[in-house]
Amino acid sequence: MKITIIGAGYVGLVTGTCFSEFGHEVICIDKDRQRIKKLQSGTVPIYEPGLEYLLRKNVEEKRLTFDTEPNKGVPWAEAIFIAVGTPSSRRGGGYADLSFIYKAAEEIATLLSGYTLIVTKSTVPVGTARQIARIINETNPKAKFDIASNPEFLREGAAINDFMRPDRVVIGVESDRAADVLREIYKPLYLIETPIVQADIETAELIKYAANAFLAVKISYINEMATLCENYGADVVKLSKAIGLDGRIGGKFLHPGPGYGGSCFPKDTLALIKMAQEQGAGARIVEAAVEVNSAQKARMIKKIRDSLGGNEAGKVIGVLGLTFKPETDDMRDAPSLTILTALMEKGAKVQVHDPKGMTEATQYLPKGIIYKDSPYQVCEGADALILMTEWNQYRALDFDRIKSLMKKSLFIDLRNVYEPGALKEIGFRYVGVGRS
Ligand SMILES: NC(=O)c1ccc[n+]([C@@H]2O[C@H](COP(=O)([O-])OP(=O)(O)OC[C@H]3O[C@@H](n4cnc5c(N)ncnc54)[C@H](O)[C@@H]3O)[C@@H](O)[C@H]2O)c1
Repeated sequence: MKITIIGAGYVGLVTGTCFSEFGHEVICIDKDRQRIKKLQSGTVPIYEPGLEYLLRKNVEEKRLTFDTEPNKGVPWAEAIFIAVGTPSSRRGGGYADLSFIYKAAEEIATLLSGYTLIVTKSTVPVGTARQIARIINETNPKAKFDIASNPEFLREGAAINDFMRPDRVVIGVESDRAADVLREIYKPLYLIETPIVQADIETAELIKYAANAFLAVKISYINEMATLCENYGADVVKLSKAIGLDGRIGGKFLHPGPGYGGSCFPKDTLALIKMAQEQGAGARIVEAAVEVNSAQKARMIKKIRDSLGGNEAGKVIGVLGLTFKPETDDMRDAPSLTILTALMEKGAKVQVHDPKGMTEATQYLPKGIIYKDSPYQVCEGADALILMTEWNQYRALDFDRIKSLMKKSLFIDLRNVYEPGALKEIGFRYVGVGRS
């Protein structure tokens, strides 16, 4: 099939690359000239494991191209996937900002030629697909098209595998023709018996928010249990394992930490709350999860401050990891942003390392933060070492060496990666989340 992807970000690039790997012809359109220039010269502008290899392979095999101009892809396409950003609105309140979506719809509308299926891949509030259809009908009354919703569930850091072997594919359609086009596009997944959930468009739109909000609730829940464990002197790692072994609960997303972050959960939970409020329905559990998540970040700041004797001013803090999770360079809404900014505002000297996120981090973190080239460099002269993101390369550190580099032997493990006993034996004071 001939497929055009509008928006070549984390989702658009992975979607376009994987569709071309399925054997389709794909053009990715992005209005960011720098991004397209890089892609045209074979450079992948984001870090996503496995993407570069697959992208180059499909470019070489001439199934995948990139352009800035919608007219290069829209008239030619049998299906167009909209994968532009839907951040929280800058006007506040948590509404999803749909301006990129509607702009893309306008740009597509005049260029459509022949029957085209237009699919929202972006996470969009219920009713957005219908608004896109309205915009296209008003801009180009002669356009022949169907609209569909195909929300994306990939996780950054594991996106290729998630796309090629998803738990399920959700398609929201209102005509057999639209369903047939999507079935053809996802044929390789039908062949490996991936569950396909076909629904109406509104249900498909809501499924994505319901899934993300549920996962956010799970994280906030275990973070609250971690606090309770700290109060009782109990161990949340054991608690989490024990409850997770119950098949009805499941062990995933039950790891306490500095709070959820990233480009999806924070904005999607807020957008779901807004949708529910507008419907007069309420989403009190999700509201609580959002509140608990803010409190968790504040609790981490206090934990670090208390560990440093109640005052971080003038203290040197080494930080391992900045991104909201390992294996991505995405810094949007990472908990490190809130936590490190607060510590620096109180006069801490913060020196950091992240394997992939440091270039992005410079856009978000305060000036004055010190970026280091290796995990051991952040330990030099430090009063405390914080493990913020559990990158694999931080899982087997040489703590004898770290001890010799640090001023004080204080290790604050915000991901519970290390065994407290083992670190205490080396002479560290160990502070975890939900265990002593
Ligand atoms: N990142 C994730 O892990 C993830 C997972 C599932 C769903 N989603 C959803 O997918 C959508 C995209 O997320 P993302 O992280 O890929 O965003 P992103 O910011 O990485 O990429 C969006 C891209 O769209 C481009 N763009 C904006 N308007 C355009 C237009 N009119 N024409 C062409 N290009 C345009 C931007 O330049 C940018 O490169 C969001 O709705 C998000 O919620 C994201």
